Amino acid sequence: MVEKMAKKGNSENNLRENETFFDRWAKSYDRPLFQFWMRGFYQPALQQITKSGKVLDVSCGTGGFLRELQERVSDEKKGSTLYGADISSQMLAAASRKLGKIVHLQKADVHRLPFKDNHFDYVVSTEAFHHYANQRKALAEMKRVAKKQGKVLIVDINFFLRPLHWLFQKLEPGCVKINSRKEMRTLFQEAGLQHIMQQRSFLFAVLTQGVKMGG
Ligand SMILES: C[S@@+](CC[C@H](N)C(=O)[O-])C[C@H]1O[C@@H](n2cnc3c(N)ncnc32)[C@H](O)[C@@H]1O
Repeated sequence: MVEKMAKKGNSENNLRENETFFDRWAKSYDRPLFQFWMRGFYQPALQQITKSGKVLDVSCGTGGFLRELQERVSDEKKGSTLYGADISSQMLAAASRKLGKIVHLQKADVHRLPFKDNHFDYVVSTEAFHHYANQRKALAEMKRVAKKQGKVLIVDINFFLRPLHWLFQKLEPGCVKINSRKEMRTLFQEAGLQHIMQQRSFLFAVLTQGVKMGG
């Protein structure tokens, strides 16, 4: 698997594969049954956003997470500013129709985020981490753009049975690696994130979160 990561790491092919796959999927991504599942996966991350501030949803897709956050922000967390980034133009177009101009949406690759250091109170990625060609670099970027004391939150697929990870990796276009809970914790530790916590999210995902303490 390390080999696969290395081969696909920094790979423009992987980026293009994901872009094409998600551009095609964008039209049907918001089907109600599928969105019911996705909402279940990202709920625990939403609940961790407890203070107003700047929030970046990396790989925001069609903007479901930001939409829910937007509703909460208008009620309880006034003063929050929401940002979304994704490599798929079609996913972003759907997000823009849903969210309007108040949310700042931008086409960007997680490995090269076009934001300043120490900028966001929360940096989130839901159901996308397994698509990232270089997961260490992606996490380092998410940490870089988070403020000190800011939180990095990743919800990603995690099946109870490891063979399903293998199968998913083989079958889903653009999928690079699905990590075990332990592997995700190790990635967070190696990135220098602290106060790491994990919890199962709905049936087939795990939320891993950490706090950026230093630089
Ligand atoms: C399964 S969708 C998840 C979308 C959304 N976060 C959700 O929970 O519904 C995965 C998303 O990751 C995006 N993605 C894949 N590779 C990416 C990369 N290198 N940089 C930024 N976004 C990426 C895809 O375009 C897609 O929108």
